[in-house]
Amino acid sequence: MPSIDQERRLLPTYEYKQDLIDAIREHSFLVVIGETGSGKTTQIPQYILEEMPEMKKIGVTQPRRIAAITVSKRVSEEHGTPLGKDIGYMIRFDDHTSSSTRLKYMTDGILLREAVQDPTLSQYSVVIVDEAHERTLETDVLFGLLKKTHRLRPELKILVMSATLDVEKFSDFFDECPIFEIPGRTFPVQIIHHQSMKINALKSNFVSTAVETAFYIHTKEKAGDVLVFLTGQADIDRACQEFKDKCSELDYTRDVKYYDVDDEEQVKDVSVYPLYASLETMEQRAVFELSRRGSRKVVFSTNVAQTSVTIPGIKYVVDSGFVKEKSYDPNTGMDALLVTSISKAAATQRAGRAGRTAPGKAYRLYSSESFEHLPDDTIPEIQRSSLLSTVLALKRMNIVDVLNFEFIDKPDETLVMKALSQLFLLGAIDHHGVITELGKQMSQFPLSPYLSRVIISSATEYECSEEVLTIASVLAGDNDLFRAPSPRQGEDLIAEAEKCKLKLAHHSGDHMTILNVWNEWRRNDESRRWCRDNWVNQKALANAKSVRSQLIDIANQLKLPLVRTRRIEVERTSGKKEGRSKEVVREVDAVPVLKSFLTGYYTNIANKASGRSVFSHYAPDQHLAEKSSHTSSALVALYLHPLCALSDMFDRNKTRYSQIEWVMYMHVTYTNRAVMKGVSKILWDWVRSGKGHERIRQLATAHLNGVDKKKLNKKRKQLLDDSSAQASSVESSDTD
Ligand code: CDP
Ligand code: MG
Repeated sequence: MPSIDQERRLLPTYEYKQDLIDAIREHSFLVVIGETGSGKTTQIPQYILEEMPEMKKIGVTQPRRIAAITVSKRVSEEHGTPLGKDIGYMIRFDDHTSSSTRLKYMTDGILLREAVQDPTLSQYSVVIVDEAHERTLETDVLFGLLKKTHRLRPELKILVMSATLDVEKFSDFFDECPIFEIPGRTFPVQIIHHQSMKINALKSNFVSTAVETAFYIHTKEKAGDVLVFLTGQADIDRACQEFKDKCSELDYTRDVKYYDVDDEEQVKDVSVYPLYASLETMEQRAVFELSRRGSRKVVFSTNVAQTSVTIPGIKYVVDSGFVKEKSYDPNTGMDALLVTSISKAAATQRAGRAGRTAPGKAYRLYSSESFEHLPDDTIPEIQRSSLLSTVLALKRMNIVDVLNFEFIDKPDETLVMKALSQLFLLGAIDHHGVITELGKQMSQFPLSPYLSRVIISSATEYECSEEVLTIASVLAGDNDLFRAPSPRQGEDLIAEAEKCKLKLAHHSGDHMTILNVWNEWRRNDESRRWCRDNWVNQKALANAKSVRSQLIDIANQLKLPLVRTRRIEVERTSGKKEGRSKEVVREVDAVPVLKSFLTGYYTNIANKASGRSVFSHYAPDQHLAEKSSHTSSALVALYLHPLCALSDMFDRNKTRYSQIEWVMYMHVTYTNRAVMKGVSKILWDWVRSGKGHERIRQLATAHLNGVDKKKLNKKRKQLLDDSSAQASSVESSDTD
């Protein structure tokens, strides 16, 4: 085994160390391009750290939280210092840096927030935007901001690092700066297409096809590890299980074609790993270690293995052709993660993973004709996501004319307009498009503007900030609060988990259920055992606890009062049918809590016809607007997610469910249909009498007055943005 120092010297970047340093000294902007695994992320910042003592602090951005964590750990190890000392990382709600940190890995979102607080980024001498080819929303905004920052601080060094070839665009954007190329050491990859498969037809069964192909490779191909690209945790877990099941029936002496490599290596067994952007999977060091002789490693992974992390030993790639991608849903006004086909560039990157250390093979599950029809490049995120937080951040930096901000690729005008009207509806900007005091407060929270709005109104209007902060902390995490046993764990366990969930559920829905779970967990001394016994996700709660204390710090800085809401007395019937008794219990009043949430989410409501289980999305802003133009209103069919508290009650007690008329939801996910998550019952009256509704009226008056579209857009624009440049562009694009 080579030592960690030897490993460093073997990387392609090593021989360019001095040239790189010279280039950084000479130029303000520099684009660096090099194959994945060549040492850009781990080595180049270290070279600066070790060889350029004149540089104060180095900031490196990563699109993925998981990359920031694992890379900073690796680099600390290489550097021989504990994580958080010389080298550290910072991601949302998790800061592992100290005053002595000189090399800081962080998400692009973190640097964006820092730029909002301090547009000169005065603490940094060097800023490196890594994985620039990913073109995340935050990276794209950072590009524009860094150019501005550079005008304020010409001594700031800015590096853009990318794994793909088309970096001319980056160089053009940064004043035609030089491009430093680190030649790759790659081997040829043979590409095998599944010629009879059209990618559209593949969509419904790519998981099992991928499993079959991996199995084919395992039984028929020479030694070498396999990397299978799928889309997310659910399909990866399923694929791992299916693949293991298939392998458990294997008789290696009968079924597996033995191959002699080096005259002695034979594939005699297999280890299977899932790889997705959650810490547990990334911390399985074994994924990143070379396989034992005679053993084959099969990794089912998300896009994280496409360019962010390198798994050694991969000789075979299976490319499903799909990826989970953020896309904006204009019907609900929210971002959704959708499974979509990849681009040619992504397919090429995926195939390339097979040829890092030796010649390899890439199996594409779709035909070469389908490949030809794929788009050349992935559409940058900024052109397919909600711009709410982005526009608010820009407004916070007094960039009023958002459309004329220096974007590397301009976002769609309608997306900007939508964000402006949503921010207006939330009260974050005024008629002139200028950020309000409320908007400034909202921008302090590292949360979606909706959730920030909720917290502020819980403190200033509804006197329930203690409760709302708890619920918001859980909602801010990615984890479901309840665990569900898998079908293979048996009926009994499923029934038991259901029972636990029902016991903790609140009749109004998920928001108050979250509060119930939190309170019970606290009452049980935050015990892991209690979580296990009640099918509650301990990690979600532990994470929420840390988030909560950070949100409280921000609330304190903003002088928002922390108040516990009142308790009310309710009658409960208990006991079995015979000896039924009524008792009066005191519980938290749900009304102010839910009303607080409505101040942020009053455009996320749906109603249900009695006796049916489907809801119709009701966008009050669109609804009011469209009444006048006689088009059909924007109604979308929505369903309750099975983990929703309200959906349990539907199964149990249909009468209660039939009492539901209006609900508010936090977001929508798509499986084969649109499913609401984070759902609670509300009253229409709360919406109608809320302040938000008044703002909708203000926004939509012009529509209701039947003004013609041209004039209306002009008026709307005047309402929302005072930039004259924007005025002309909006008018000229108005063709519908
Ligand atoms: O950024 P780039 O893709 O060019 O390469 P890198 O991430 O700096 O990786 C360089 C080498 O470090 C690769 O061989 C990785 O396998 C290794 N590495 C590692 O062992 N552990 C990590 N957490 C990250 C990288
Ligand atoms: Mg990298």
